[in-house]
Amino acid sequence: MLQNMELAHIPTPAAVVDLDRLEANAERLAAKARRLGVRLRPHIKTHKSVAAARIQTRGQFGGITVSTLAEATAFAEAGFADITYAIPVPTTRLHECAELTRRLRSFHLLLDQRETLAALENYARGHQTRFSAYLKVDCGLHRAGVDPSSDAAVELAAAIDASPAVDFRGILTHAGQAYRARSRDEAAGVAAAERDVMIRFAHRLRTHGVDVHEVSIGSTPTMVAVDHLDGITEIRPGNYLFFDVFQSAVGSCDLDEVAFSVLATVIGVYQKRRQMVVDAGALALSKDPGPVHVDPDCGFGVVTTVGQQRPVAGLTLVSLSQEHGVIEAEGELDPEWRPGTRFRVLPNHSCLSAACFDRCHVVRGTEIVDEWETVRGW
Ligand SMILES: Cc1ncc(COP(=O)(O)O)c(C=O)c1O
Repeated sequence: MLQNMELAHIPTPAAVVDLDRLEANAERLAAKARRLGVRLRPHIKTHKSVAAARIQTRGQFGGITVSTLAEATAFAEAGFADITYAIPVPTTRLHECAELTRRLRSFHLLLDQRETLAALENYARGHQTRFSAYLKVDCGLHRAGVDPSSDAAVELAAAIDASPAVDFRGILTHAGQAYRARSRDEAAGVAAAERDVMIRFAHRLRTHGVDVHEVSIGSTPTMVAVDHLDGITEIRPGNYLFFDVFQSAVGSCDLDEVAFSVLATVIGVYQKRRQMVVDAGALALSKDPGPVHVDPDCGFGVVTTVGQQRPVAGLTLVSLSQEHGVIEAEGELDPEWRPGTRFRVLPNHSCLSAACFDRCHVVRGTEIVDEWETVRGW
């Protein structure tokens, strides 16, 4: 535990969470959920930390969203009692899902395949279990989910609703296509489409006699940009707690609201080619290419000062290998930059970067006030 130490003295690369910024980000989104009359079920995959989730769920109903069964298990152990496992459930892991269903007040699965429903029914018959599940809907990302305009989508919803193995919870989508936006206005258009597609589909299901309790949507860009959520029951953004360079490019935040950074140390200075190498590579920052649709030269993160986290003008993180990050300067390198100099890097994608670490150093200013362990694995 490095509590009470300064960022100047801890080993690098290190994951750093700015608590003031994180608390402000949590409160801003929670206030918006209250104002728009929806329940907030934050996605905790961004940080995978119980302490962060406690801040995120303050004043909320307490439900969370997870992306792995390892997260579900760890958060169940920490007392979270209402969890949605938000990838289509792998049929190889139904035993763990049944165990979590038994243990928790509510544990919800996602599915979009007939075969998965058959596997749930088969498992439930043999084990006297009843699962709770959402139908996953594709509102334009084209990653997973049923096409809400198709007859097959209504048929699958009706089959889940009628199944003795499953409580049909409702419909759920994630508008990840909002990450292709170039501004908050563009993200607002995606947000309206995400909401309206789901409201129309819920209405269509109800006219076919399917009981839809929950209409669950949400990504960070769409929930930051959306103007109203009438007809929606819950939202599941996650990244907003940290934000990152990508979110600033699509208009979700300013860079000075990004609460997650990677502390790195210069390990080589190469004046002739105007480059420095730091000890944060792909296994600390991830190789997410970032918002290249907005800025093709964005590099692998924004290099900032340690204390104020001010972007250092003219520096670009041009390449990453496993444990090396190469920073290039537009002009001459500052003679003050030498081996041992520290920077903080705001990553392109904070979820992927944070997932590289087994703990985060939590700071107020530059003083470490806490250390949060994160859940690893699947
Ligand atoms: C199903 C689902 N719900 C919610 C989210 C949270 O969205 P964001 O990361 O934009 O906050 C994600 C993110 O990938 C997701 O896949």
